[in-house]
Amino acid sequence: MVEFALPRNSRITPGKRVSNAKGAKRAKNFKIYRWNPEDGQNPHLDEFEIDLDKCGPMVLDALIHIKNDVDGTVAFRRSCREGICGSCAMNIDGVNTLACLKPIEEVKGDVAIYPLPHMKVVKDLVPDLNQVYAQYTSIKPWLQTQSATPPDRERLQSPEEREKLNGLYECILCFCCTTSCPSYWWNGDRYLGPAVLLQAYRWIADSRDEMTGERLDQLEDPFRLYRCHTIMNCTRTCPKGLNPAKAIAEIKKLMVERH
Ligand code: SF4
Ligand code: SF4
Ligand code: FES
Repeated sequence: MVEFALPRNSRITPGKRVSNAKGAKRAKNFKIYRWNPEDGQNPHLDEFEIDLDKCGPMVLDALIHIKNDVDGTVAFRRSCREGICGSCAMNIDGVNTLACLKPIEEVKGDVAIYPLPHMKVVKDLVPDLNQVYAQYTSIKPWLQTQSATPPDRERLQSPEEREKLNGLYECILCFCCTTSCPSYWWNGDRYLGPAVLLQAYRWIADSRDEMTGERLDQLEDPFRLYRCHTIMNCTRTCPKGLNPAKAIAEIKKLMVERH
């Protein structure tokens, strides 16, 4: 049997332990993945014990408290703090989710925080999103039209046509789904993954878009679309409650119908 082992320099080693919870009535331990490309060290897990009465209720609040008051070198992305920008996606307690929407109290015991899995890491909890954004660009995520409209007219939709975009337009491109998909882990260089495919379907389903045929042509490929094997991890993990697996199934259905 073949045995796989991580290269020595990528094994995660224990890191430092810092307590900032003296006299705390509600102390909680956070184990945070750390890796700095510039120090030549292995990744390590640092432990921070903090006083929950000194921060807000969400995991992102704890991270901000740690960064502001305990260790300013901890790196992570965040912006909106309300589940809209998608920046704070990370793996918390074994699940890809948004740190700003994840209540600390939902995690029993220590809170383990890693970057989104199977992505290159820029530093600590910051994943390298260059590949997924290039894939997103490849599906031309904007309205494409061929017919001319007079400049004073909008391209209108009926309520029924608009309804078809529900469950698609809400995607915030956090990539929690893509990075939970085993097919993407193994073929991410060629498979577009659930987030980008949901976005592709968002434009295919838009009654105002006039490039449906070209969009489907571009997806008709054994890797770009058909690496989805309906494993459903994507739908299970989406912090916005969306269903990328269903969007992918809709694209596959359209492929069958047009032949
Ligand atoms: S349903 Fe498809 S996209 Fe979603 S996790 Fe499974 S293989 Fe990946
Ligand atoms: S479908 Fe959900 S998990 Fe995937 S990128 Fe969009 S919001 Fe994030
Ligand atoms: S900070 Fe914007 S989604 Fe969490």
